[in-house]
Amino acid sequence: MPETKRYITTPIYYVNDKPHIGHAYSTIAADVLARYWRTKLGNANVRFSTGTDENSKKTIEAAELAGQDTKAYADSMATLWRGTWDSLGISYDHFIRTTEPAHHKAAQHFVQKLYDAGDITKGDYEGLYCYRCEQFYKEDELANGKCPVHKIELEVVKEENYFFDLPKYAQLVKDWITGPTDPIGPVSRKNEVLAFIDHGLEKISISRANQAWGIEVPFDASQKVYVWVDALINYLTVAGYPDANYQQWSHQFHHIVGKDIIKFHCIIWPAMLLAAGEALPQTVFAHGFFTIEGEKISKSLGNSIDPLALTAQYGNDALRYYLLREIPFGSDGDFSHARFEAVYNADLANELGNLVQRVAKMITQYCDGKLAPGEPQTHDIAGVEAALEQCRFDVALKEIWVRIRGLNQLVEEEKPWVLAKSDRAQLEKVLAHLAGDLRQIATLLEPFLPKTASEIKRVFGGATIDTSVGILFPKLAPAKAD
Ligand code: MSP
Repeated sequence: MPETKRYITTPIYYVNDKPHIGHAYSTIAADVLARYWRTKLGNANVRFSTGTDENSKKTIEAAELAGQDTKAYADSMATLWRGTWDSLGISYDHFIRTTEPAHHKAAQHFVQKLYDAGDITKGDYEGLYCYRCEQFYKEDELANGKCPVHKIELEVVKEENYFFDLPKYAQLVKDWITGPTDPIGPVSRKNEVLAFIDHGLEKISISRANQAWGIEVPFDASQKVYVWVDALINYLTVAGYPDANYQQWSHQFHHIVGKDIIKFHCIIWPAMLLAAGEALPQTVFAHGFFTIEGEKISKSLGNSIDPLALTAQYGNDALRYYLLREIPFGSDGDFSHARFEAVYNADLANELGNLVQRVAKMITQYCDGKLAPGEPQTHDIAGVEAALEQCRFDVALKEIWVRIRGLNQLVEEEKPWVLAKSDRAQLEKVLAHLAGDLRQIATLLEPFLPKTASEIKRVFGGATIDTSVGILFPKLAPAKAD
């Protein structure tokens, strides 16, 4: 059955820190998908959510450090995150905060459902907990006795709390992963998740005792819902759960996540959805992580890049292009300033920006801004669309650039400045062809480079070409050697 609706999501981000470029990566990729699907299915049939994960112990710590009340701190950080996405032009439909009453209601309703299904039991828990990851680790997962991600000492947590019967759903989750919808991408991550299930699952703790901040467990006011369970439920909250009609959206989820959080999204969340009788996600696509100039992004190294600092200098579209063209989505990669500038100059300033300006100028200069009726465009766009639909953003952009290069070559071969003196008919044909192709390229570019695409459409869209075309991507001076 052809798909008629899509709900695209990003992870919801912790508010103990500012947004960095790694977070912008997930959010921009999801934005490209949302923009693309809106053109295919119509605005009303696509939703896109992002937001903030606020009920973590890390929020309390960060607020204390900032000398603020926890809620006031969370409010100011949520404003910062939302403002960052607004500045980056992220077209989210719903920005969810897990401190919202609507989310509390959804989370409590959902946890109660698990309890009523008989999948929650009380028990003693003793484990090693990393507060940075907000998760327990088993002995065999540690790196030299420390957290494998943050390399910090883990806290021994011993308390009575509630457990969800994850092993009960292992086979059903496996059937979903290996079933005909093939929901997990890329395949390397799918295999990682399957191997993890085969290694054996255990019941998981879904509540915390002695925590002042968070969502109360509905059947035991002395406990709070474990922050990861609360965070995953955000996907139902944004669908309108548990109110009427939430299922029109809860059946349509396409989650974009980083590779660090696949077990939560591909094992724990589907198991809980099954237990609560809810639909499973359509897809979960996990992208890789990138380093900055070869180094892991870390608070202690102080190397995290504020995406707004980059876009203030290069523009939103340039950041979108670099991140999605340079790093194959799903693989790990590196962010380098030198490489960013090289790609900006070569692909955006020289190949695309110059072409647009040159063609507009020639139409103005040789034809008074008027175009002969263009030939119908016969280019096949299926390859670009298929790549985009499979989250192969680099491949889609490469294909678009093959066409851009083709047009630059056409200008060099046809030499409109010579045709202007020798062959008027051919001149008009060539310029109409260039403008027509650029219009189609703008349509293909729209999800990736929305501002640039709309500028190209504005310039070449009307009967008369707009002569006021500015420089789309001002060329950067080459970096000085030290
Ligand atoms: N709050 C949880 C997610 C809950 S979703 C129900 C969380 N938040 S986070 O603030 O730590 O953000 C994690 C996400 O940020 C990763 O999954 C990934 O999407 C993105 N990235 C963080 N660092 C990154 C890189 N270095 N590279 C690429 N993406 C990165 O986990």
